Amino acid sequence: MNILVTGGAGYIGSHTLVELYKAGHTAVVVDNLCNSNPESLRRVEAILNDEIGNSNPTDIKFKIPFYRTDIRDREGLEHLFAEHRFDACIHFAGLKAVGESVQKPWEYYENNISGTLVLLDVMRRHCCKNIIFSSSATVYGDPAEIPITERCSKGLCTNPYGWTKSMLEQVLVDIQKADPEWNVVLLRYFNPVGAHPSGRIGENPNGIPNNLMPYITQVAVGKRPQLGIFGNDYPTPDGTGVRDFIHVVDLAAAHVAALQCFAPDFEYRNANFIYNIGTGNGYSVLDMVNAFVRVNGVPVPYTIMPRRPGDIATCYCDPSKAKTELGWRAKFGIEDMVRDSWRWQRQNPEGYPDGDGL
Ligand code: NAD
Ligand code: UFG
Repeated sequence: MNILVTGGAGYIGSHTLVELYKAGHTAVVVDNLCNSNPESLRRVEAILNDEIGNSNPTDIKFKIPFYRTDIRDREGLEHLFAEHRFDACIHFAGLKAVGESVQKPWEYYENNISGTLVLLDVMRRHCCKNIIFSSSATVYGDPAEIPITERCSKGLCTNPYGWTKSMLEQVLVDIQKADPEWNVVLLRYFNPVGAHPSGRIGENPNGIPNNLMPYITQVAVGKRPQLGIFGNDYPTPDGTGVRDFIHVVDLAAAHVAALQCFAPDFEYRNANFIYNIGTGNGYSVLDMVNAFVRVNGVPVPYTIMPRRPGDIATCYCDPSKAKTELGWRAKFGIEDMVRDSWRWQRQNPEGYPDGDGL
């Protein structure tokens, strides 16, 4: 398939490009680079050349078409669709910082919701009605049951970012109901961590990381003095928050598996295409810190801080629907996650080099 990948220069998008090409698909990337660096795309191409290019007798040099375009820019998208024919879109583009969304709700609703509405309109005008949307465990709010299945009802989000995901799920479901030619897959990611095993691509947060793993790696590499652990008095085995951390390469592979939903003879066609994408294992914050120190042999000093507002104690999923219907399951464990996160950070202490060379 030829896939439009919005937000393809970002963390999850870049890893997904590798898995798409490895599975024989092709892609075109649209990204406005507001939270990414085009170097990620060059590195994806380098990985592909190393992993599959050399084994190919014609020695293909991978070049992924890239459009520096905002998904709110209707003309820009029209131009893109005039030049390419797409079988499906994997829609990653969006703003994702929870805390920032509380400070700038308008910007989050405008970027994520208006952007997606423009994208959907241009897609339907060009008869491309297959979409995989990056949703999030955040739509479950404080979940009614653990492990979370897709049958759990959605809950109240604690921030505007979460609401954009919840609202966009509804938009997509309604559009599909009104026009059954649409195929809508909602992937609810749990906590993506890790990096490609080559260490060439990974998570490249701007400023102070919000998420646990990039904070740990920045402490380990000496950029920050210590990790703050937000609360050790939760009702969990060691008192720290428990999450379903998933290796980003597994998450990327889930997108390739989800493309099956678009086949007319897909066995589960009458089912709804909502999938939890996690490992099904809950690890605590301290489990992650301890695994990181043990596997990588580097210290990660930490201090216990007050709870972070909006955090829940425990969040992990039952991923069996994705296994049954898509044949997908996570293959990487906690040791792979901490090892690969560290390799990326160690090889790229400042993330991708500055400057937009495209
Ligand atoms: P990311 O910020 O690394 O990637 C998102 C990409 O979208 C960036 O490259 C950014 O430049 C681009 N972008 C943003 N707004 C755009 C616009 N208007 N037009 C064009 N490009 C735009 O984030 P990520 O971690 O790779 O996340 C990808 C998707 O997955 C996001 O939608 C995010 O909300 C969702 N998600 C992420 C997590 C997580 O923990 N990383 C968890 C659940 C869901
Ligand atoms: N944590 C710390 N210290 C830090 C950062 C995080 O102790 O410096 C703790 C948090 O309190 C929480 C756990 O580590 O207990 C995980 O926190 P993250 O910020 O890494 O992840 P969240 O589970 O809060 O949220 C993430 C994404 C959301 C997404 C959600 C579910 O940030 O966008 O996973 O996919 F919605």
